[in-house]
Amino acid sequence: MSKPVVSIVMGSDSDLETMKESAAILAKFAVPCELRVFSAHRSPNLLARYVRAAERGGVMVFIAGAGAAAALPGSVAALTTRPVLGVPLPSSHLQGLDALLAIAQMPAGTPAAALAIGVAGAKNAALLAIQILALSNRPLAGKLSAFKAAQEREIGKKDARVRRLG
Ligand code: RP5
Repeated sequence: MSKPVVSIVMGSDSDLETMKESAAILAKFAVPCELRVFSAHRSPNLLARYVRAAERGGVMVFIAGAGAAAALPGSVAALTTRPVLGVPLPSSHLQGLDALLAIAQMPAGTPAAALAIGVAGAKNAALLAIQILALSNRPLAGKLSAFKAAQEREIGKKDARVRRLG
């Protein structure tokens, strides 16, 4: 197994169903990743130890998914200079709006990106991580171009199907 270059952390194992969508995209692009559970509020010491070890181990980008008072992306960002991509999860009564605001409203000086709530955010976090890595990895950039072209062809097919109905 190759060493992970992307770390996917989540606040609870109850977040896995959504966050495994990030791992699935990274697998499609053959980008090694690892999935871990750390809570900014409930296991801050374990989180701090992990982020430092992950950096030393070669992790280049962190994806952090959390719901409710989602401090995890910000806490990871406070501990690293590597990019942190936050995914707000709809696990609370507020359906992720709370997590979105918590992640988006980082104070100046400690950036964490805020993606869309839920599965779209988890998928886009992985694609954004790949885009960051592709800046210095030509084969990966090529795979991204192929992905975009295939996506465009799919929309073209949908358009053709819909037009036939008119
Ligand atoms: C957040 O609280 C986690 O990221 C999760 O989305 C939510 C609920 O956690 P559990 O009560 O299921 O552990 O910190």
